[in-house]
Amino acid sequence: MKIQKNHSLKNNNTFSIDATAECFVEYSSPEDLQAIGEMAWRGELPLPIRPIGGGSNILLTQDRINGTILHSGIKSIEVLSADDKTVRVRVGSGVVWDDFVEMCVFQGWWGAENLSLVPGEVGGAAVQNIGAYGAEAKDIIESVECFDLEAGMSRLFSCRQCEYGYRESIFKLEKYRQCVIMYVIFKLSQEPVCNFSYKALSDRMGGRKEGVSLADIRQTIIDIRSSKLPDPSVIGSAGSFFKNPVVTIETYEQIKAEYPDIPSYTAAGRDDVIKLSAGWMIDRCGWKGKSLGRAGIYEHQALVLVNRGGATGAEIVALADAVIASVREKFGVELSMEVCPIS
Ligand code: EPU
Repeated sequence: MKIQKNHSLKNNNTFSIDATAECFVEYSSPEDLQAIGEMAWRGELPLPIRPIGGGSNILLTQDRINGTILHSGIKSIEVLSADDKTVRVRVGSGVVWDDFVEMCVFQGWWGAENLSLVPGEVGGAAVQNIGAYGAEAKDIIESVECFDLEAGMSRLFSCRQCEYGYRESIFKLEKYRQCVIMYVIFKLSQEPVCNFSYKALSDRMGGRKEGVSLADIRQTIIDIRSSKLPDPSVIGSAGSFFKNPVVTIETYEQIKAEYPDIPSYTAAGRDDVIKLSAGWMIDRCGWKGKSLGRAGIYEHQALVLVNRGGATGAEIVALADAVIASVREKFGVELSMEVCPIS
């Protein structure tokens, strides 16, 4: 276990914000987490203790982050069981998400391919219920194994107990903050199951479903993503910065009367609300490609805020506030952040 004081988080967040953590600890086992819990109890680690994953969905809002930042170094991948139909795999929270997807595709395991190239690590994917191209992490998560720092013991949460929603889970709630994810158990299919519910994907696949390989789907997703989203190793960003807002049918009808081409989606199978496209609204407000200080809106996808070089968290927040105000004024819709602020 590595404990570092005054650790630069520049390489631990995809926005590349150069904030300093008072304390940074990388754990590699349940024993490490047991020791971390005991040290915290004895007052030997600064509080609060906050876990981060690949840092692809956080915004460090201040130059100095007080307390202890925890990061997973658990990188094992283990097949728990397999038959002709399914395979169950236990994956360490510190495994890079796309390395896991690549492995599934290579092994012929179906279910993760639509989530190709999503940045971040497996632990963060289970906290955030990452989603893209008609798939969500919860569709393949069987359970999540955590270490409860306060109780000093492991806890297993079934997928249902994780209470997954749109980029939501119990692990985002204050009540479960002491639960640090060690492993995620995934259930994948050994038989082909294509999910082409997302129009941009089915269009690119040319309406084909038969004889499509996992490698083809992965490559298509990679091509679509790369055309719209910045590569975090080149341009600092945290992917979609805001959630797509969910509004009542009445609000939707009002907006649609004025903007008939506004894209809309069903929200989690509910018929009393509609999910709107935040990227489209921000684009319509004229923000695409614009900057405020060293923070900007990505040229190819207005839902993505970028660091144009040396931006502080405060500059990103200032831009986010300006965008929220524009969308409120033009559409009467309140955007909320998908990224998790850490201050
Ligand atoms: N659009 C514009 N202008 C823009 C951006 C989007 O007009 O600048 C329009 C598009 O033409 C399209 C609609 O808005 O009609 C939706 O755009 P897109 O398909 O790019 O998806 P999104 O709703 O903006 C969501 C997820 C992404 C995920 C994609 C694909 C959220 C907050 N974002 O974006 O997830 O990759 O769908 O499934 O749900 C992430 O969470 O970090 C992320 C990248």
